[in-house]
Amino acid sequence: MRALANGIYLHYVQAGEGIPLLLIHGYPLDHVMWQPQLDELSGVAQVIAPDLRGFGQSDAPEGVYTMDAHADDLCALLDALHIRRAVVCGLSMGGYIALAFWRKYASRVLALILVDTRAGADTPEARLARLETVEQVKQRGSAPAIEAMLPRLLAGSTRQSRSDLVEFVGAMMQRQRPIGLMGALLGMAERPDSTAMLPTITVQTLVVFGAEDVITPAETDGPGLVGSIPHARLVVIPKAGHLSNLEQPEAFNRSVRKFLAELVGEHQIRVTPQAARS
Ligand code: MLT
Repeated sequence: MRALANGIYLHYVQAGEGIPLLLIHGYPLDHVMWQPQLDELSGVAQVIAPDLRGFGQSDAPEGVYTMDAHADDLCALLDALHIRRAVVCGLSMGGYIALAFWRKYASRVLALILVDTRAGADTPEARLARLETVEQVKQRGSAPAIEAMLPRLLAGSTRQSRSDLVEFVGAMMQRQRPIGLMGALLGMAERPDSTAMLPTITVQTLVVFGAEDVITPAETDGPGLVGSIPHARLVVIPKAGHLSNLEQPEAFNRSVRKFLAELVGEHQIRVTPQAARS
């Protein structure tokens, strides 16, 4: 499906009924990375998985894709779908966007799920590396961006035992367009540090890490999130790397199901499909 949101067409997939769950993919991927969640969590939630600007089948305008621009796109998508509030779940770059979404549109957030992500901005070295990758993509197309990411996305054990998953993720990366990769790299390079904002997050927050994530390691990035967000709880998923939702979908979905059930249950927010819609 496609919706006009913030001046561009966003492609999205929507499945299920119940509490709205917005799934924001990471870089350099698209909504297909949420396939196990679209399959399973649609039994308990209204799952919405868009392709961000520049990715998948969404429009890819030129320019810098700031986290705020993505948040504006996603808020406009919720408007187009008549969804007033959603549980906002983002993996890695999707997590940076989820934090920007909270900063700009807190009243639209029922709860947050931050997956394999961090609050901090890029270090000067990381920023420089992104700008170098942009130059390489300009000259050689998507290959340099993919080569830089693929070996680091999945846990060593997944790479050895799940050649199907390695191929699945590789194919997803290969279909991304250079213009989208560059827009995202430039946007991530200039994203602000969200650390000081974390104590303002008043909603329930589930923080998930793959135990073998080398891009955003749980030991390095977990304590900052869980220690500063007032109502945060941490889940570390064994035998998973950066794409914990794909590498260990059962464990991931179990944690999210439990979190959603508690939200909908007596001691948190009561949400019916009607109440969540505007
Ligand atoms: C992602 O998975 O979205 C990326 O690792 C984010 C990043 O490069 O910082």
